[in-house]
Amino acid sequence: MKLRPLVVGNFKMHMTPAETVAFVERLLPRLGTAAESRDIALAPPFTSLHVTAAALAGTGIALAAQNAHWEEEGPFTGEVSAPMLEEIGCRYVIVGHSERRAHFGDTDRRVNQKLRAVLLAGMTPVVCVGEQEADRLAGRTSEVVDAQLKLALANTRLAAGQTVVVAYEPVWAIGTGRNATPAEAAEVHTLIRNELRMTFGEENGAGMRVLYGGSVSRENAGELLSRAEIDGALVGSASLDPDSFAAICEAA
Ligand code: PGA
Repeated sequence: MKLRPLVVGNFKMHMTPAETVAFVERLLPRLGTAAESRDIALAPPFTSLHVTAAALAGTGIALAAQNAHWEEEGPFTGEVSAPMLEEIGCRYVIVGHSERRAHFGDTDRRVNQKLRAVLLAGMTPVVCVGEQEADRLAGRTSEVVDAQLKLALANTRLAAGQTVVVAYEPVWAIGTGRNATPAEAAEVHTLIRNELRMTFGEENGAGMRVLYGGSVSRENAGELLSRAEIDGALVGSASLDPDSFAAICEAA
């Protein structure tokens, strides 16, 4: 059975608050009633979360953050905690994005701490895993993804009704215009699904969404998202164009 799809737009470090609101105003008419039959979320920069929450009120589209600190509060200059994001209206928080792993020192241990903090604050983590190109060429994709996922999910406790979203994002496909083929993605998604079943039990694990990310575009979304193994998309650059993002949501 296909799960209800989830499409998350990751704006990364793009758009000021005013630009984000203008963007949402252009996006909403293009989405039409898409949010009735799929889950859609937007992840703008921290500075745009407040105004985006207001712009999305009553639309059925959820707010997501791109990162969170693992402690609730403390002397961590420049950081934002999960309870702060929850209060501002976030439903999802992306954790372990490869850009954070590459540029901001997010180790597997940190990803795990952040994931648990997001759950503790009552939100849904969207945890990113994915191999480097060298891993894929060396035939190590499964091993790398499985290890990342196991470490990210270690010691997680889900409250009743809580869930986890996993995004498979091959690092060589992010922002490069090169996407994994639907068959390549499906193979890794199956491995992730099996790991989720083992970690959270058959029923919970089967109900968790596994998204694909990495150069998802309006051109390739239909083919990727029609695969039974792919439950939605984490969209970077194409989410910055309202026509493209709406077309990807439509394809889900
Ligand atoms: P991209 O980014 O769609 O621009 O490849 C995806 C991501 O980083 O989540």
